[in-house]
Amino acid sequence: MLELNKITIIGGHGKFGEKEPLEGLDLNMGDIASIVGPTGSGKTALINDIGMFADGNSPSGRRVLINDREPSKEFLEDPSKNPIALITQHTSFLSDLPVYKFLGLHARIRKTGKPESMVEETIDFANQLTGEPIIVDSAMTELSGGQSRALLIADAVIIGNTPIILLDEIENAGIDRSKALELLRKYDKIFIFVTHDLGISLLSNYRLVMKEGGMQAVIVTEEEEKRMAEKFKTMDEIMLHFRNRIRAGNRLEEQELRELLKRAQSVLMGESGK
Ligand SMILES: Nc1ncnc2c1ncn2[C@@H]1O[C@H](COP(=O)(O)OP(=O)(O)OP(=O)(O)O)[C@@H](O)[C@H]1O
Ligand SMILES: [Mg+2]
Repeated sequence: MLELNKITIIGGHGKFGEKEPLEGLDLNMGDIASIVGPTGSGKTALINDIGMFADGNSPSGRRVLINDREPSKEFLEDPSKNPIALITQHTSFLSDLPVYKFLGLHARIRKTGKPESMVEETIDFANQLTGEPIIVDSAMTELSGGQSRALLIADAVIIGNTPIILLDEIENAGIDRSKALELLRKYDKIFIFVTHDLGISLLSNYRLVMKEGGMQAVIVTEEEEKRMAEKFKTMDEIMLHFRNRIRAGNRLEEQELRELLKRAQSVLMGESGK
């Protein structure tokens, strides 16, 4: 696979034909970036531009460079050479093969390491992201939304092993987001998340702000926001706790909320994170 150091997005224009405020952007190996912005602001359009190596041929007129050069046409023609995995809001599996067979097939096509151990590693990774463990004998089409998203991510990271992974809104897919970021951070790749999620945005190195189809600005996550992220995580865990109580068919009790808030108080009110 190609030695990839960076991708460059050269700005085009927004939805109404005006020049994008941000003229361009480099994403370097190891970066975790978020793309934020209201509905219809062009987030999906931007990752599609990246995914198709736009060359002035998309509605935005953007161009994408890899290692400062125009990407090779090979990337688009031969999927096994494509350095980008795009996991969209609607990606689903068309195959009704059992999970282990599907992954095994992919591992053999990719010819990366030992297929059996890659499959095992992939399922293990996916199971850390989703609450409901995947049964390897079940058909791919039988997986739940959360399970298939988790498996797609694991498959892209471990078997696909592409240097760039684009993810369009994983938050609604029943995936443990902070666990996902923690696991993904161990891999040397460029991750780009389209997200409305506070946690994912703040765990990223920086976020790209979109508006009216155009790239507006890059905001780097500094210490203050990182400290706040710790607190949001604690708040989130409390919400999650009650969400799970509801799912399990329970009635909620105010007393329990009071206790959890009290226990979280030192984290929430402290000056600095841990
Ligand atoms: N730079 C652009 N030039 C022309 N059209 C654009 C541009 N950016 C986005 N669009 C168009 O605007 C519409 C909304 O964009 P898009 O789907 O990317 O928004 P989004 O931010 O992903 O929204 P959501 O949060 O709802 O998923 C699409 O039809 C898209 O093709
Ligand atoms: Mg979108």
